Amino acid sequence: MTYSIMEQVSICGLRAFACKTERTKTRALLAMTKAGGRHWRGMTASDLDAVVAVAAEVHPDFPEEVAIFAERLALFGAGCRVLDMGGGIAAYLLSHPWRELEPPPLNVPLGALPPIPGTFYIHDLALLPQARGTGAAALAVADAIRLAQGLELPNLSLVAVNASVGFWGKQGFSVVADPRLGAKLASYGSDARFMMRPVAKAD
Ligand SMILES: CC(C)(COP(=O)(O)OP(=O)(O)OC[C@H]1O[C@@H](n2cnc3c(N)ncnc32)[C@H](O)[C@@H]1OP(=O)(O)O)[C@@H](O)C(=O)NCCC(=O)NCCS
Repeated sequence: MTYSIMEQVSICGLRAFACKTERTKTRALLAMTKAGGRHWRGMTASDLDAVVAVAAEVHPDFPEEVAIFAERLALFGAGCRVLDMGGGIAAYLLSHPWRELEPPPLNVPLGALPPIPGTFYIHDLALLPQARGTGAAALAVADAIRLAQGLELPNLSLVAVNASVGFWGKQGFSVVADPRLGAKLASYGSDARFMMRPVAKAD
């Protein structure tokens, strides 16, 4: 089949338009993906099922009942956040003020927050694989640091599992080996490490 010059010009134009549209779509998708890493918002009770589904996928070795998540949300909602990447919840942060060097055992309710907390405790930060490497995790840590600052707490602490010590190290946390921790780490597995960072840190 042969085309006139005008037809060829118009086919080229259409192709160029189609390519441009594809490029625009790809750019928009990339932007959405990156922006998705920034869509942390407060968790609500209606997010709990999705949050538990993320937990089941990310932490198959550390199962916790939905009641544990619900209790943290009720006790300290400001520390419970989710990452909504458009297609659903892709990550969550659970954090709350707590007593220093007393990591709560897994899958056990807190009961109540301490009247005089000594640390801001990150119970869990869990990202589905598609949310990793987007910078979203560091944003959640920055949120936790801001909350700790607001509460005038001197430090943040957590138990690092799943070989995540390297990630937390990059967020300014250091491993603390203290005899008082003893059996308190038992429910977190043998490779668990207790880590702390001062709220204010010279970077
Ligand atoms: C741990 C977790 C929150 C980190 O989030 P992430 O999006 O994968 O991390 P990022 O890509 O933002 O990494 C930030 C930096 O930490 C490093 N890092 C990430 N995970 C690491 C790990 N497990 N060990 C060593 N370094 C790590 C990255 O290389 C990166 O370094 P850079 O700044 O020099 O480039 C995420 O991988 C996750 O949810 N893992 C499963 C659940 C889990 O173990 N949570 C921690 C519970 S205590």
